[in-house]
Amino acid sequence: MKRTITDLVKLKGKRVLLRVDFNVPLDDAGKVMDDTRIVKEVPTIKYLSDKGAKVIILSHLGRPNGEYDVRKSLWPAALELAKNLPKCNVSFCNKVIGKEVDDRIAAMKDGDILLLENVRFHKEEEECDMKFARKLARMGDIFVDDAFAVAHRQHASNFGVARILPNAIGFLMEKELTSLAQIFEAPKRPLVAIVGGAKVESKVKILDKFVDKADVICIGGAMAYTFMKALGKPVGMSLVFDDNLDEAKDILLRAHAAGKRVLLPVDHVCIRKSAPSRVFVTSNLTGDMVGYDIGPKTIKMFTDEIKSAGEVFWNGTMGLYELDAYRQGTHEIALAMASTKAHTSVGGGDTVAMINLYRLGNKINYISTGGGAALQYLEGGSLPAVEVIQEKIK
Ligand code: 3PG
Repeated sequence: MKRTITDLVKLKGKRVLLRVDFNVPLDDAGKVMDDTRIVKEVPTIKYLSDKGAKVIILSHLGRPNGEYDVRKSLWPAALELAKNLPKCNVSFCNKVIGKEVDDRIAAMKDGDILLLENVRFHKEEEECDMKFARKLARMGDIFVDDAFAVAHRQHASNFGVARILPNAIGFLMEKELTSLAQIFEAPKRPLVAIVGGAKVESKVKILDKFVDKADVICIGGAMAYTFMKALGKPVGMSLVFDDNLDEAKDILLRAHAAGKRVLLPVDHVCIRKSAPSRVFVTSNLTGDMVGYDIGPKTIKMFTDEIKSAGEVFWNGTMGLYELDAYRQGTHEIALAMASTKAHTSVGGGDTVAMINLYRLGNKINYISTGGGAALQYLEGGSLPAVEVIQEKIK
């Protein structure tokens, strides 16, 4: 068990360097479009502030490649944070390190909260440059890592700083780790995995794990065509990752040998490349047909599994959800997840965004703030930025 913030004594007056993940979507006007990651961080920040710590917050936003980019500033996140902590003194500094930051920290009172600018404006962050990590660490007495969604990365502001300062994890990190671990440790049976999205490569390891742990695996999204092709089924001109055909075959063979059911789409919402304006449903993708979503029979097949499951984990959309015409499959899966009696968990940016779009978040038992991190944790049971955190003293 890792040390958590409740194990930290004497927080009053201490400078707590808190790493969060405020990598939130912004619209063209710079407004936060989905504040889930900010709202979920409030309990940790409030706890530290209430205990009298000076809370200095580090985060990244997007991938600015080590350069300043006003569109990736954390300023909009600071505004949202202040709205969510109306009784606290929340402020923002548009620098990450340097004299201005030091002066602002020196002026902080107990309980104050200061969000610093995007750590990824410094290229040393992603390089996990230990000189940069030391500069960050100098700003705090204690380090708290609550940035679950980026815990699969070994960066200066999580992995690096944790190697220097006394440390602990925050409430969000703790909840993420225990909720995800429960899926494999004590699942209610049958355990059904719904896996979608486009790229097979990014899902091979988790599918391998599900072959061991789950009872039923439903594969949708563009990645399903690679699996269909691996079985010799027609896919027309749908997206197939030929480089992953062998891995797909291997997963199907292993699942078969282990007596697990892998369900692939039996019908598809598609177009013909030669007549792209006509969208239709087919069970047989031939010629120049391109599949973009699962069809009604597949929706029924997958949602029936969700209904009769004991535990369901869902990651990845069922089709090209960015376009209305190909969103039905994902929408129906979201509705089934919201109405089943099974224990439900969802991970992955696009999948969570769709759940939120349909306002179903409060009907899902657990929504992870991490996509890549959630998958990596489920795949291997550990994350580099968590591994470096001190163990709880028994
Ligand atoms: C995420 O949104 O998944 C995390 O913030 C990690 O972002 P990254 O993939 O750019 O490291």
